[in-house]
Amino acid sequence: MVSKKWTALLSVLSVRSVYAEANATQLYGTWSSKSNQVFTGPGFYDPVDELLIEPALPGISYSFTEDGWFEEATYQITSNPQKPECPEASLIFQHGTFELMDNGTLILTPITVDGRQLYSSPCDDDGVSTYTRYNQTETFKSFAMYLDSYHGIYRLDLYQFDGSPMQPLYLAYQPPMMLPTETLNPTETSSSETTGSSLKKRSLRDLVIRNLENKHKTNAVKTNPHKLFLSADTLWYASATMLGIGSIVFLAC
Ligand SMILES: *[C@@H]1O[C@H](CO)[C@@H](O)[C@H](O)[C@H]1NC(C)=O
Ligand SMILES: *[C@@H]1O[C@H](CO)[C@@H](O)[C@H](O)[C@H]1NC(C)=O
Ligand SMILES: *[C@@H]1O[C@H](CO)[C@@H](O)[C@H](O)[C@H]1NC(C)=O
Repeated sequence: MVSKKWTALLSVLSVRSVYAEANATQLYGTWSSKSNQVFTGPGFYDPVDELLIEPALPGISYSFTEDGWFEEATYQITSNPQKPECPEASLIFQHGTFELMDNGTLILTPITVDGRQLYSSPCDDDGVSTYTRYNQTETFKSFAMYLDSYHGIYRLDLYQFDGSPMQPLYLAYQPPMMLPTETLNPTETSSSETTGSSLKKRSLRDLVIRNLENKHKTNAVKTNPHKLFLSADTLWYASATMLGIGSIVFLAC
């Protein structure tokens, strides 16, 4: 009886917090989707070598500071129903400033010169991924942050401009794990050829070491040490890993 009462109380509380007035403070932290493998910060994008680092599993991550900065990291695999053996994959990094409007709309405005995309379509590109700049303003109609009483962690639901929900995000770090909140690649015409050749000279081993070094340069605090969600369906994606670091072509843009 007692536990039933508690359950009822908890569900009332969590429903109430869903409808609490959305405010920018609630966004503070690093949020990651269910696979809990994709995080913003130096483990995803290395601004010195302008490298995107492929996570073990697909997912998305957003970080927000208390002073109006955001960072985004996504690793998405899109299946092709006609050719199931030909999924497309993309890695995207963006950062910049965000604004919460009075009507609850959240607008993320990236620093145009800093965004990067690594895109792979193995059936059409002979296994050679393309690396380009990326600049896409994102508008979310609304969001809701609340304690997910089932998983016992904070959850963030972002609703796209048409009202459809994004996959749920869970709080992973607070303070957030982010790259410096400033323009990282100030030149409008950064030479992608230079980037390409400097990358080719580096071995995978160097890249992994750099990745590990970068991971220690952060004051982020992990809030969710357990891999709560790793399950059979996410493991399927592990075998779908497809953006090989060895085969990348750099497009001037
Ligand atoms: C914003 O939301 C947080 C968490 O729900 C709350 O503690 C804080 O008082 C709110 N701030 C404002 C200005 O409403
Ligand atoms: C909220 O306001 C912004 C600008 O003030 C506008 O662009 C947006 O369309 C509005 N959102 C909704 C859902 O009305
Ligand atoms: C970046 O995107 C915004 C809108 O999404 C556009 O207004 C702006 O011109 C773009 N900047 C560059 C350099 O492409």
